[in-house]
Amino acid sequence: MTARIIDGNALSAQVRGEIAERAAALTARGVQPCLAVILVGGDPASAVYVRNKVAGCEKAGIRSLRFDYPETATQDEVMARLAELNADPSVHGILVQLPLPRHLDETAVLEAIDIKKDVDGFHAENVGRLSQNREAFIPCTPHGVMKMLESTGTTVQGAEAVVIGRSNIVGKPMAMLLTNAGATVTVCHSRTKDLAFHTRRADILVAAIGKPRFVTGDMVKPGATVIDVGINRLQDGPDAGKLCGDVDFDSAKTVAGAITPVPGGVGPMTITMLLENTVISAERAAG
Ligand code: GUN
Repeated sequence: MTARIIDGNALSAQVRGEIAERAAALTARGVQPCLAVILVGGDPASAVYVRNKVAGCEKAGIRSLRFDYPETATQDEVMARLAELNADPSVHGILVQLPLPRHLDETAVLEAIDIKKDVDGFHAENVGRLSQNREAFIPCTPHGVMKMLESTGTTVQGAEAVVIGRSNIVGKPMAMLLTNAGATVTVCHSRTKDLAFHTRRADILVAAIGKPRFVTGDMVKPGATVIDVGINRLQDGPDAGKLCGDVDFDSAKTVAGAITPVPGGVGPMTITMLLENTVISAERAAG
């Protein structure tokens, strides 16, 4: 058996087309959606993500504002910028790229974002609303995963779902979304005993651990839908320099029913959901 490949680029292009139409309609009414992006420090991966987010905005007709700070930026500088962006009615979404340098208080920064502009969905109030299954800005990566499951016709209600990873950005909100959609959810992480015991039971397996090719075919239930959130650059071996996911694609695809590739899987959907959240925020502001 060879798994069906879930094409994140194709799904993303389709959804971004709809987002661009909504952005154009808002712009015609005098309210062009606008996303402000704050990057602190020189982390190379973060710089690539921010560049892709800004480029995604431009293609969808969304205005973007980019604020780059050196590694040495102070908490006060970042907080002052957030206060200014919160108060600016032409700004609909605010994103602070994570991780922040260690001397900055990440929780305080995220809490300083107006929840109506919290398009990443990282503010505690949005997290709480999501956990209560109320209207909220949903974190972009797990939201994109839900869209991918929907697009493949995967039945979530009643399914056994296993999420590997317990981060605030992916693992925890992913578990909440799957729970809200009626799956029976197990969250595994680096301290889980006998990981394969859990993963082999999963009808839906989401890998978000940050370890290259960690999930191998023998850990996958035959016919499962496998979603690979990892983006890792291989350090050595014959594929050194190449991007790969947390799933060993070649072995997993012979067992799974459907699987996302890396690159071209979850990655493009993350930015797509960010653009959608920005347009939603602008639509609310336009009334
Ligand atoms: N760092 C890794 N993923 C994300 C994300 O989705 N949003 C932000 N702001 N930072 C990240």
